[in-house]
Amino acid sequence: MSSDDLKKQAAARALELVTPGMRLGLGTGSTAKHFVDLLGARVAEGLDVLCVSTSEVTEAQARALSIPMSTLDATPELDLTIDGADEVDRELRLIKGGGAALLREKIVAAASARMVVIADDTKLVERLGRFPLPIEIVPFGMEATRRAVLAAMAGAGAAGDLVLRRKADGSVLVTDGGHWILDAHLGEIAEPESLSTALAAIPGVVEHGLFIGLADAAILAGAAGLTVLGR
Ligand code: 5RP
Repeated sequence: MSSDDLKKQAAARALELVTPGMRLGLGTGSTAKHFVDLLGARVAEGLDVLCVSTSEVTEAQARALSIPMSTLDATPELDLTIDGADEVDRELRLIKGGGAALLREKIVAAASARMVVIADDTKLVERLGRFPLPIEIVPFGMEATRRAVLAAMAGAGAAGDLVLRRKADGSVLVTDGGHWILDAHLGEIAEPESLSTALAAIPGVVEHGLFIGLADAAILAGAAGLTVLGR
């Protein structure tokens, strides 16, 4: 079974959590895209939900499927968010932002009574950090922010390189919020909570991709079947 088939399986299992009348957060990425496709098919059959997206890409996909969409301003409390992740550990701590949507993803997850991660089981790790940690920054004063991030990383025992994310054409990638992303190549993160706190204290850092205490469950699809972590 391909990785894409596994992602679709996890998405299909998550769809079973959706009940009529729910206010949903829709994630971003290839796994979340499967969920939105499957949700769109249920909406076409008459399922009543109201959704908020985590990116312009997901917003466009959901609208094309005629999924009823709202905003977090009009619908500030959500019942359930379904989103992918770049890494998940057994404490349901995540690295997210591989798709550059971490800021809205974190805002939407924090506004949700429940967040469920969907992924293929290669995303499950014993220690976070093999996947580069995305750090969303304000373009103003980038060099000063970069140095502060390096110092924060060293203070949290997480040394590594910082790489400004670019698009395939070489131009700097600009997020939906108009910011830039530094990807921190750490190898492993010994103390995710310490690093999260240290990064959050830097003025030029808008948000970072460590999601701690936000995910309630993870549905992981592998060759042997589905594994559910959490509740
Ligand atoms: C986007 C994300 C994605 O959820 C994450 O990158 C996983 O993507 P995929 O499902 O394509 O593996 O955090 O910012």
